[in-house]
Parts: sequence; C-alpha cells; structure tokens
Amino acid sequence: QPARAMDLVEEESGAPGEEQRRWEEARLGAAALKFGARDAASQEPKYQLVLEEEETIEFVRAAQLQGDEEPAAPPAPTQAQQQECIQAVRRSLPVFPFREELLAAIASHQVLIIEGETGSGKTTQIPQYLFEEGYTKKGLKIACTQPRRVAAMSVAARVAREMGVKLGNEVGYSIRFEDCTSERTVLHYMTDGMLLREFLSEPDLASYSVVMVDEAHERTLHTDILFGLIKDVARFRPELKVLVASATLDTARFSTFFDDAPVFRIPGRRFPVDIFYTKAPEADYLEACVVSVLQIHVTQPPGDVLVFLTGQEEIEAACEMLQDRCRRLGSKIRELLVLPIYANLPSDMQARIFQPTPPGARKVSELQKPLPHPVVLRGLGWGGASGAGSGEDARMQAVVVATNIAETSLTIEGIIYVLDPGFCKQKSYNPRTGMESLTVTPCSKASANQRAGRAGRVAAGKCFRLYTAWAYQHELEETTVPEIQRTSLGNVVLLLKSLGIHDLMHFDFLDPPPYETLLLALEQLYALGALNHLGELTTSGRKMAELPVDPMLSKMILASEKYSCSEEILTVAAMLSVNNSIFYRPKDKVVHADNARVNFFLPGGDHLVLLNVYTQWAESGYSSQWCYENFVQFRSMRRARDVREQLEGLLERVEVGLSSCQGDYIRVRKAVTAGYFYHTARLTRSGYRTVKQQQTVFIHPNSSLFEEQPRWLLYHELVLTTKEFMRQVLEIESSWLLEVAPHYYKAKELEDPHAKKMPKKTGKTREELG
Ligand code: CDP
Ligand code: MG
Repeated sequence: QPARAMDLVEEESGAPGEEQRRWEEARLGAAALKFGARDAASQEPKYQLVLEEEETIEFVRAAQLQGDEEPAAPPAPTQAQQQECIQAVRRSLPVFPFREELLAAIASHQVLIIEGETGSGKTTQIPQYLFEEGYTKKGLKIACTQPRRVAAMSVAARVAREMGVKLGNEVGYSIRFEDCTSERTVLHYMTDGMLLREFLSEPDLASYSVVMVDEAHERTLHTDILFGLIKDVARFRPELKVLVASATLDTARFSTFFDDAPVFRIPGRRFPVDIFYTKAPEADYLEACVVSVLQIHVTQPPGDVLVFLTGQEEIEAACEMLQDRCRRLGSKIRELLVLPIYANLPSDMQARIFQPTPPGARKVSELQKPLPHPVVLRGLGWGGASGAGSGEDARMQAVVVATNIAETSLTIEGIIYVLDPGFCKQKSYNPRTGMESLTVTPCSKASANQRAGRAGRVAAGKCFRLYTAWAYQHELEETTVPEIQRTSLGNVVLLLKSLGIHDLMHFDFLDPPPYETLLLALEQLYALGALNHLGELTTSGRKMAELPVDPMLSKMILASEKYSCSEEILTVAAMLSVNNSIFYRPKDKVVHADNARVNFFLPGGDHLVLLNVYTQWAESGYSSQWCYENFVQFRSMRRARDVREQLEGLLERVEVGLSSCQGDYIRVRKAVTAGYFYHTARLTRSGYRTVKQQQTVFIHPNSSLFEEQPRWLLYHELVLTTKEFMRQVLEIESSWLLEVAPHYYKAKELEDPHAKKMPKKTGKTREELG
C-alpha cells in the first residue's frame, strides 16, 4: 500500500485555490509527479517530487539540492538576557494589560469566572499576580488545579523559572505519586484529583487563600466534583477566593452554577486559521497523518506542525513512522524534529519538553537516535520561531505529536499547522453492565475548533482536518459529554462518603451523573465492603479511601493482609498502575523482544508476569542494563518503583503489615481476586463471557494466557478496540469467588454446566502450580 497525499478542499468556497492545487498534485499514483507550484514572486520551481521506491513518495527540496548551508546558530543567551526575555514575554501576554482590573475584580468578588483563549497567561500569570498582590501573606497558599499531570508539572516548572526560584520551593506541584512541594511552597499547582484528596485532610482548605480551578471547560470528573465541594466551602469561608478559569467555552454555565458570579473576559489574540478538509474519508488516519506531515513539511512555508492523536501507542507509532521515513529520505528533505507528548511520558522527559534550548545548542547527531528526547525551542521568544512565510530560520522544523493535552492545557509556541484526524480517546461507561471502556471516538466540534485555534497563536495558520466537511457538519457532536456522565463513580463516591457527604443524589452537581451510575457505584462499594447496608462508610471503606488508587485496587491491597502477601501485592499494584508500557518491541528485534517477554511468563497469568518482571529487575539492583537486555522499559519500571514506595509508605495507615507469600502464588491470586471479583469471566462454548452480565469478551493477544484459555479468569481492565479485550488477566478458581465475595456470588451461578464437555487444557494445571 503506497503512501498517498490527501485530498483537501478549502472550507467555504470549496474552490481549489493555489493550496488545493498543490495538495492535489501531490496526490498518489501520478508517477514522476511534479509539484508544479511555483513561487508566485520568483517563478522558481519550489519543490520537486520524485517517485522512487514503490512504497514511498520521495520528496526533494530544491533548495537542499542547491547545497544551501545551515545558517550559523546565534550564541546562547546569558542568564540576565534570559530573565529579561522572560519578563518581556510576561508583559506581552494578553492578560498583562488587564492585571490591575483583574486583581480589582478578584478583590471585590469571592468567585470569579475567568475566560480567555489558550495562551493568554491565565495559568502561569494569574497565580503570580496574586502572589505579588500579597495573597500568600500570613502563610497561606494559592492552589491551581489542572486536569492533567503533564500540565501541572510543566506550568509549575515554567512559573518557577519566571520567578527565578527552584521548582519545589516557592512554586511546586503535586500529582498522584509525586509531590514536588515543600514548606516554602506558596504557589501550588496540582491535578484536580490531588485537590480533591486534599479535602480528606483539610475539609475547609484552610491553608489556601485562593483556589483556582483551571481548565474548567474540560469538565473532568474531578473538576466537576471540586465545583460542588468548593462552592460549599466558599459559603462558610467568605475570605476564600475562588477562581474558575476556562477556555472560551460555556462560561455562562459556570457563572450560573456559582450563583451568577461575574465573568472576566480576557480578549484573545488570534490570527486567522484556514481550515482544510479531506475530499473523501480516510481509512487509516495514522498513515494519513504521517503522509500529511511530510507533505506539509515539504510543500508549506516553515512553521511547526501539531498533530493530535489519541494516545501513547498511537503517538509512538506515528513518531516511529515519521522518523523512519525521514531517515530514508535522508538529506533530501529538511530535517524534521519529531516530538511526542502524552500524559504517560515519564516526568523527566515531560519536563524536558518545556525546557527551552537556545537555537544551536542541540547537536544534529542527537536527533538521529531512535527516540530523540524532546527538546522544544520555543516559549521564550529567542529569535528563531517565526510565522509562516518568514523564509529561512535558524530552527529546525518540528512536528509535535500530542494527545488532547495540547488542545487547551498546553501552549506550544510556533505552531503554524495543525493536523487533526478528528479523534480522541474517550472513556465510556455502561451503568447497566458496569463496563468501562476506553475507546477512540470522534471528537466534538468544540474540540475540533479548539484544535484548529492552536494554529493561529503566533501567525496566520492552517488546520488540516483528516475528515470531510460533511463529517464535520453531520457526524461530530457539538460538545464533549462531561466525564461525570460517562465514567464509573466508585472512586468519587468513596471519597464523598469519607468527606461525610451521604446524600449523593442531592449533591450540588453542575451536571448530575446518571442515576444508575451512582446506584451501581454504591452497590459495588457495598460488595467491596466499603459501605454497610445503610450506605455508611465502614472501617475498611475508610482505609480504602486513604489509598490513592481505585477501590478495587485498594481492596486488593487490603486483602493482602489476610493472605500474607503484601510485598507481592504492592508490586502488582504498582506495575498495574504504570499502564501497559512495560515491554518494548523494537521493529528490528521483534523475535528477541517476544522471546524475552515469554521468558517472564509464569503459570497463573499476567499479574504474576508483572510480579516476575519487577522481582527480577529488583534482583538486578534496579539496573537499566538489565532492562535493556530484557526489552523492558526502564522508565516504566522506575515509575513502578516510585509508586510502590509510595504505596508501601501508606501501608501502616491502612494497617497492613509487610509480608511475603514466599512463592505461594495462590495467595497472591486470591488477594487479587478479593479486589477484582467484579471483573470475572468464564469460558463458555462460545468464548468468554463475563460472569454477572454475560457480556462477550476476549483475552488480549498480548496476554500470557492468550493461548492457554483458562476456564475462569479475572481481568484488570477492558479495552474496546476491534473487540472487547480483557487486559491483564489472571486465572482463578470459581471457588475463590465464594471465598472472597460470598455476599456477591451464589454457588449456583458458579456451577459450570459445560464443564465435562470442555476440551482439556494444555499448559500447566493448577495442581502443578500450587
Ligand atoms: O493558561 P493559558 O492558556 O491562558 O496560558 P498560559 O499557560 O499561562 O501560557 C502563557 C504563556 O506562557 C504562553 O505563551 C506559553 O507559551 C508560555 N508557557 C511556556 O512557555 N511554558 C509552559 N510550560 C507554559 C506556558
Ligand atoms: Mg492554562
């Protein structure tokens, strides 16, 4: 399947302009195709396109062929120059002219809604203004919440730099499993989930003078819950200032919710963005993205490209594909810097994305590494970054491949082109079956417009949508449904219960969750033993709320006490928390990588495989070399180790002692079952069915049990891709379900009518295991 160019039509007229022609001419199939487009002024042929290999379109940049030399890099700026530069940038932000007016509005209103285009300076500047204004005197702090970890970390780092302090001192952040604050911290950036947890230890938020709920338009579950709680606190703490900051979306809703609080609008600066659609739908948007990026790179004036993809795997794949093609094109095209951004990018790497690097500081050879560390040259306005049509610049062109995070929570300077496939990963929840799934779904119109807006920050930009104008009109929803209406609520209900909020039906929700979802959450918490039959928090429920993980995972950890295997369970919990990024599989070493993975397999299932990987890694002295040799991601492991340490530190609080199962993995499996008895499936003649809801599900092909197909199993999560896949599965015995959840399962429903007719399993039996 050869690479193609996209058909793009101009939004309104649909008439093929100059742009359109270039795109069209770049279309696949026409052999020995040439970009006929000539620079209107010089009449010089701009680009030439030569088809060589069957599978690729090779682009040749005319200027490169003529042997242009890279301009010399300017000298690196001094510290003082950097500070001056930073201050100049601060003064240039859209919010700056409104500083006094804004502070006056905050002084005279308890709650203020602040609306402003992404990049106006809401997140980085307003807390600093408040600090300068004295809101942190008397030992009080300013909290600013972000829906995403990356955003919390990166803005804190940015603000620390602007204030000339060390991150973690006056300016700090906290995200789950990572606290970068100290006694000196007065500007406290954190995820919305962390502020929510703060209510547990300080229900009146007494140590804060200001709470800024930022990115409110994202309407994450935690942000929505914060609204209700903060509104309540504000009533009995009249001196507490509440700021609700949002992109230009739906601010009237927030105002109404907060008893008609005034809305402060920061006028945006936006350059026009030209929107393009494909003529026909694209079957493979990943491939389409890669082709389009190269096309933009070759056919458009310089400017960075921002691509919106849905998640880590996709981003890594796209980056790899791009780098691969660039490598093959070699010096025929201008160098392209490929930068991934996604939420699970390990902290240290995330931090580097926002570390400004002066032009020229980077060695080209550095970029030839398989996965270059992201380095971004913008943010401080040091020369270089310039708008479309500015001709040559000293910087390399960059393509930033990001998740939704770049939609509003992060500003990446220098973006001129946005490439929008129109998808995002969205959680959805079926309260009837209790199934949560994460699926790639079309984004909303509001989302698409936010994305397009990213192209118009520094100059007039272009947004290429990899879908048709018809699809935009007819297939995209107006706005994204708030998360609270499409997620399970176990976690949040447990938290609210521990805050003493019993009447959840009448909690002050901005948008209430579906009734059935609330009910199911209560029912699940009851089954887990967190609530009693009156819906009151039990001792065990109180402990579960102490642990910053999902109720089922909490329950599993608590159960490890009974089965004397907390050492192992902590490891399993930590490994499950770092997601599915433990193993890597480089294209050129697929066989080796797969062998290495299979070597970790233990009978019983994936949880034990994770345990095995971690244990061996620990035995190697937490060695990176060991990871390298075993095709294990060192950074994921390091994160697992952090998470494990944090959880271990909390064990005492929940009265679980450290103990090891000494190789008796049945105990580990039972402890996992005690937490996950909700997530069980059995093999029937027509494949796997969940035990309670009778839903058809499949073992993920990556699972160690994929071939084994045990009769009973539990899964950590379900992901819906081509099918409902169970990820991280563990073989169990049905009798364990009666042992760990007698109130939930009846012996009768665990009988196996097909037992005798089942084909005999290959692989190890349970007896051999024990
Ligand atoms: O919150 P809002 O979108 O209104 O703007 P902001 O995040 O405060 O960003 C203000 C400016 O700071 C932008 O021009 C960003 O380029 C810059 N910034 C940065 O360079 N690095 C960050 N990590 C965050 C912001
Ligand atoms: Mg912001």
